[in-house]
Amino acid sequence: MIPILLLVFFFHLADASIPQKPLTSQNQHGPSIASATENANLLFNAIYSSMRQWGSSVQHNGMSFFPASIPEGTLLYHGSAVPDRPIGLEWLAFEIPHAEMFSVGFRRIRNRTDGGRSSESAENHVEFLDPRNMSPQYLWALEEPPNYERVPGYLQIYQVNRPLKVLYLDGMAAAKCSRGTLDSQDLLLLNLTKGDFAERERAEGLCALGEKWGVEGFIRMECGFELIKCDFSDGLDVISHKLRPNLDEPAGWNDIFLLDFVRDIANRYQGIDGGRVHLDYSSMVSAYFYPANLSNPAEDPGQWKLPRLVASEEEVLRRIKSDVELAVKDWKPTVGVDWQGVADMIVKRYSARLQWMASGMPQRTFLLQTNMLINTFIDYGVSESQDPVTVCSEHYLQPVQLVTETDRLLEAGFKTVTRRICSTIFEVRRSLLEKQKDDNINEDDDVSAEMELIRDLTTWLDWSDWKTCGQCELDEVCLIAIFPFGTVEDHYQYVSLVSFLRSRFVLKVVRRFVLSSPPSMISVLLNISV
Ligand SMILES: *[C@@H]1O[C@H](CO)[C@@H](O)[C@H](O)[C@H]1NC(C)=O
Ligand SMILES: *[C@@H]1O[C@H](CO)[C@@H](O)[C@H](O)[C@H]1NC(C)=O
Ligand SMILES: *[C@@H]1O[C@H](CO)[C@@H](O)[C@H](O)[C@H]1NC(C)=O
Repeated sequence: MIPILLLVFFFHLADASIPQKPLTSQNQHGPSIASATENANLLFNAIYSSMRQWGSSVQHNGMSFFPASIPEGTLLYHGSAVPDRPIGLEWLAFEIPHAEMFSVGFRRIRNRTDGGRSSESAENHVEFLDPRNMSPQYLWALEEPPNYERVPGYLQIYQVNRPLKVLYLDGMAAAKCSRGTLDSQDLLLLNLTKGDFAERERAEGLCALGEKWGVEGFIRMECGFELIKCDFSDGLDVISHKLRPNLDEPAGWNDIFLLDFVRDIANRYQGIDGGRVHLDYSSMVSAYFYPANLSNPAEDPGQWKLPRLVASEEEVLRRIKSDVELAVKDWKPTVGVDWQGVADMIVKRYSARLQWMASGMPQRTFLLQTNMLINTFIDYGVSESQDPVTVCSEHYLQPVQLVTETDRLLEAGFKTVTRRICSTIFEVRRSLLEKQKDDNINEDDDVSAEMELIRDLTTWLDWSDWKTCGQCELDEVCLIAIFPFGTVEDHYQYVSLVSFLRSRFVLKVVRRFVLSSPPSMISVLLNISV
């Protein structure tokens, strides 16, 4: 009797110290330290880029699920042909122009060639098309849709009146394309077996899960972050619904709209600001924790490093989905460990320095830089000091209080990343010190072998910070392909090169893409849209 009681007591203790339901298991399809370690660089980057427009566009195939809350007071925007609050499910934008894009109506034009035979009542009946069903060239008034005329619609502003419990799907999960941005939804959460989802069907599928799981909405990203709000009547106060001007009239903004839109999106490259979304990293679920086959079947090698779920075993996908359910079902808006903050500390310390070293520098500067990075972790007063690579690797993880199983998986991934950074820099420094000792080659400035080690490291780390444009002119905005903007080149010149390119787009360029290639539009992402 006593041993059983003890056992029960032990489990209670274990429960108390690990509030989250344990994710790790012996199950071959379950999450493990081994998988988190294997996918460490991808996992680290997913945390670093979560809710950030830039990194999530570079690595546009999201593999992770984050329980999240939107705090009371947050403003959200909805564009519509009509002023009325929608019933049921609809989309809300975190940025104003993202909603302005949909603040338009399309009114059916009476067929003039039918000899005026249409009845008076038909003439008075105004039929509107939902702007969500319109391609962007019509939304942006670049072309007139056949049989419809564009009329100004309404910008509706809502305020969240209590914390909303939502699920954030990372990457560019609102990009309707077949390159993998929808895998976490269509293949994993919704189990699309044949055919394609229309966007509304997909949202309805998500909200059906949401109802079972106690989730009120889903945050995804395209040209701006958005929320699929499953029930518009709950949790939102109406602030206003204002009729928009006619875009081409003097009060309009047609010619500057795209540039201005992109500028607002670019403002969120490093985060959506304003504390508008809180992610609970300590409760997240990621395919990177599982033995999923993430290989990308694309023929184009540029895509190979973007993970997919198409080759993954059913059992693994089912397991991930049920763990997402466990993670959100009893979840109450809360925040765990700030893992993104930890990632920020690491990236900021090493990013520019590694980039500088990878670009080549004189031997002496190279050694000074590695000394500067490494000496911190060595006690020169102690002959047998603690292994400095370990001290270096654990430095930024030291403050973290691990609570959940997810924290342990994230720690394993982060340690793999820091260990690789630290051991590479140590190795480079050791090699440079050797060269200094050898008088014969003291003058030899060849550091190509050391540079190569750093480049292997930066290629593996693949930090999105190394792909930015630098400072723009006032009338320019730096743009990477973000659904539905940009061409395939706009994406690849960033993701396929190790060198750190500059690229800029002015309004004219963006518009040229738009005007030159309808109906495939500006984007290859959209081009192959499902
Ligand atoms: C207009 O009406 C005529 C006659 O009914 C018809 O043949 C034609 O297809 C209609 N055009 C459009 C654009 O609907
Ligand atoms: C992953 O899937 C790809 C494509 O089906 C296959 O070629 C590869 O062998 C798989 N990898 C593993 C480790 O099973
Ligand atoms: C998807 O549905 C099929 C058929 O019901 C089932 O066999 C499969 O295991 C499901 N996959 C996932 C990931 O849920």
